[in-house]
Amino acid sequence: MSDGVTHRGNISQHVQAIPSSGIRRFFDLLASMEGVISLGVGQPDFVTPNHIRQAAIKSIEDGETYYTSNYGLVELRAAISRHLNRLYGIRYDAGTEIIVTAGVSEGLQIALEAILDPGDQVLSPDPGYVAYLPAVLLAGGVYMQVPTRSDDGFQLHPDELESRITPRTKAILFGYPANPTGAVMTRETAQAVADIAERHNLFVISDEIYDRLVYDTEHVCFATIPKMKERTILLGGFSKAYAMTGWRLAYTCARSELTEAIMKVHQYVMMSAPTPAQFAALQALNAGEEDVRGMVSEYDRRRRMLVNRLNAMGLPCADPHGAFYAFPQIGGSGMNDESFAERLLMEERVAVIPGSAFGEAGAGHVRICYAQNYDLLVEAMDRIQRFLERHRVGSK
Ligand SMILES: Cc1ncc(COP(=O)(O)O)c(C=O)c1O
Repeated sequence: MSDGVTHRGNISQHVQAIPSSGIRRFFDLLASMEGVISLGVGQPDFVTPNHIRQAAIKSIEDGETYYTSNYGLVELRAAISRHLNRLYGIRYDAGTEIIVTAGVSEGLQIALEAILDPGDQVLSPDPGYVAYLPAVLLAGGVYMQVPTRSDDGFQLHPDELESRITPRTKAILFGYPANPTGAVMTRETAQAVADIAERHNLFVISDEIYDRLVYDTEHVCFATIPKMKERTILLGGFSKAYAMTGWRLAYTCARSELTEAIMKVHQYVMMSAPTPAQFAALQALNAGEEDVRGMVSEYDRRRRMLVNRLNAMGLPCADPHGAFYAFPQIGGSGMNDESFAERLLMEERVAVIPGSAFGEAGAGHVRICYAQNYDLLVEAMDRIQRFLERHRVGSK
């Protein structure tokens, strides 16, 4: 409060400033219904592979029930370092540049806390992952959106990004492959964004939680662009590629001074990431990529079917090259995205998320998660088609 008076009993202003979740109301509704095919929640339908579960069970039986180092198990950090080097040729020092966190959710928050002063601005593509705005607000920052559009596959336009930079801009935050659009950042765009970060001396937070889920294209690890390792905080995790959402395990990678700053937040809010989950993650990395490859090829099969069906039924859909989301336009139905999603749920028992939950530029779209059983997806597409036929503009 600017009047200098403490308003006892009031919730903090930065928490009050966080808009209530557009998705939560929807999930409350869904939870009370039967026979719903949910294409809503963004998590793999697969159970964590058995050998990974067994590694956690063994660690518990062996009595590994203590805190680990604040940075995480040293063997796990070494395995993460080797993994990133093998995939992208980048080198992070396991001793000073990697912190194991309780999910990318934690990594995102502590990275922002470490770099933002009150009023610092963070630029981020719109539509974007629902947690980015609240995370920035909670860290005292100001969230500034850079619109993207479906007609070019939701690519971030470097000139639009640069035009929004002010003297208070501190960082660029993005996640590619993207939630909710499935867009992937091209190497050319990454280079142009890197030039902007360099020119204006900005931090970059690159959320690469979907890095292993790309189809017919490459994932560009942002920190591998020349000079970007210095200014980038890379967020990587186990939730999506290894079907490990419930384990809460991920990591931050950044140069040592930045990692030290992030550690100051991590050690007091989290102490260390869950120990059994760290043993599970170590097994996931040591075992190779066979499970990941199997899941990715199944996601790809679903993706192709879904995109074909959506386009054929008149819901134009940019080809999603990564993650496990399709983000079709639903304007042709004559409804806005909120009423489309609500009526689809009530009338055909299919849950999708209204695009406006991900930012203004998401309006007129819905997010469909295809991390769902293939036959159920086909059934969901049949139901959506029936729904559209009933509501097609001009028909009764
Ligand atoms: C882009 C993005 N970042 C981060 C997360 C959260 O990841 P974690 O489970 O590691 O906290 C999600 C989960 O949906 C996501 O879509």
